[in-house]
Amino acid sequence: MRDITRRTLLLAATAVAAAGLTAGAAFAQDLPPLEKKDTYKVGFAQTESNNPWRIAQTQSMQDEAKKLGYQLVYTDAAGSAAKQVADVNSMIAQGVDLIFLAPREEKPLIPAVMAAKKAGIPVILLDRNVDQALAKAGTDYVTFIGSDFIDEGKRVAEWLAKNANGKSKIIELEGTTGSSPANDRKKGFDEAIAAAGGFTILASQSGDFARDKGRQVAESLLQAHPDADIIYAHNDEMAMGAIAALEAAGKKPGTDVIVLSIDGGKEAVQAVVDGKINAVVECNPRFGPKAFETMAKYAAGEKIDAWVKNDDKFYDPSNAAAELANAY
Ligand code: AHR
Repeated sequence: MRDITRRTLLLAATAVAAAGLTAGAAFAQDLPPLEKKDTYKVGFAQTESNNPWRIAQTQSMQDEAKKLGYQLVYTDAAGSAAKQVADVNSMIAQGVDLIFLAPREEKPLIPAVMAAKKAGIPVILLDRNVDQALAKAGTDYVTFIGSDFIDEGKRVAEWLAKNANGKSKIIELEGTTGSSPANDRKKGFDEAIAAAGGFTILASQSGDFARDKGRQVAESLLQAHPDADIIYAHNDEMAMGAIAALEAAGKKPGTDVIVLSIDGGKEAVQAVVDGKINAVVECNPRFGPKAFETMAKYAAGEKIDAWVKNDDKFYDPSNAAAELANAY
């Protein structure tokens, strides 16, 4: 019944557009509708599960779906954008009502967004965005729910500008190349640190948001730049890798070298308490309640903003011990 409704609406939109009616042009652009129902079959296409942030995000989505009594079709792309596209195609074939997609990279997931739209299945992007020149909220997908990654990078830089105490030579560990958090956390940090003045980014290289890759990259960059006294990692996993690299090099993380991170998982907040990380901007992974609430609003025909923003906390020695219990 749902498929008939969806197909009927799409066919009607196409017919009106083909007739060249002004109203039809706007209607044909419209997103696939979502029927109001008591229960849904919903897809969640995750990028990978190799870190506590992803595990917390998946848990939050699964908990909320369970609470609502919805069927959740969950896939893990295991770090492959190609697999994630295939995962979305499989969800389309299974006839899910809506797809929550955490796009691993900005460009390669565009075909998945467009395929779902073509099949009449609404998509809500979670935590990472797609290339805005290629797909738009309100036209190709419903909305993007997530943090302001540019602001996260900027907040790290602003803390540094106030607390560097003469340290100035930075190694930057970037996230997954082509992903929105890597692009935006770099942009926010690099621009704010240039505006602050007095700092040099000695090297900036991807550690793919992964602990061991972060450790390896930090190790080789510390060898090439032994005078580096600040490491800015785009996520906790790479910051923990950098701490291992610093300790292996006989340096004291947090003291000899300032270590800064984004995510705010328990291990990183504990590292702030222990003095090994100097400050962390949170990136909140608990998407479940907001994701399903947004879906309900969409089904009810409410206007959804193009960006449903998550608020992020900030951890430094002034609050880390008190906040530890709340960190994911
Ligand atoms: O998209 C959010 C980022 O992805 C988190 O910072 C990182 O840990 C995760 O893999």
